[in-house]
Amino acid sequence: MDAATFVAQLGAANQEILDRLAPAETLVAESGGDLGLETLLKIALKNEIEATELAARWLVTTDDVDLKVALARQAGDEAKHYRLIAGHLQEMGVDLTDFHPLAQGYGPLFNYLDGLTDPVERVAAGQFTREAIAVVKNEQFIALCESQGAHATATLYRDIIQKDEAYHQLLGRDILLRLATTPEAQERARQAATRTLELAEELQYLALTKMGIHHAPGC
Ligand SMILES: [Fe+2]
Ligand SMILES: [Fe+2]
Repeated sequence: MDAATFVAQLGAANQEILDRLAPAETLVAESGGDLGLETLLKIALKNEIEATELAARWLVTTDDVDLKVALARQAGDEAKHYRLIAGHLQEMGVDLTDFHPLAQGYGPLFNYLDGLTDPVERVAAGQFTREAIAVVKNEQFIALCESQGAHATATLYRDIIQKDEAYHQLLGRDILLRLATTPEAQERARQAATRTLELAEELQYLALTKMGIHHAPGC
């Protein structure tokens, strides 16, 4: 199939899975509990630093100039998100002096993405799918913040971070349209997107069952 049809199909398939990634009923179910905003924002810091570093690593190991420029833009945005969230935590009175976002090492999704070398797989997984996950998770995180009165956090996400993450997803879409032109490339893209969603779903399930963490923002 042509690239446009493929990208539309992959986007629809992703969305179907994303709709169950963080079902709306969980948002209602947890409303009585502690928001745990500090914990959620520290998870966000880890996600942002991982996204920064991944974009930077891919930037230096790709020959495609458009992709290099897109990754450079993304690395800058994710680093900006890190600083904004860290600043926001400090305004909330959280001391980050001894906090290191990677103290427990890189996560499984980072390690999977870091192992990809093919540009079509990288873009399908890292931008087109991971950033779509981020947009869904952030929408729910914003709703959670609003429902708990954390309006400044909601505003930070709604006005700045969320717009950038949506743009990263569009960058991925544009590059995928250019690269996913053969059945082989489309199959590799599809598998990379599927694995990314599986890992995100597993991680979300683990966070919920092991640590009771839900609605952590994405990146
Ligand atoms: Fe992003
Ligand atoms: Fe980000």
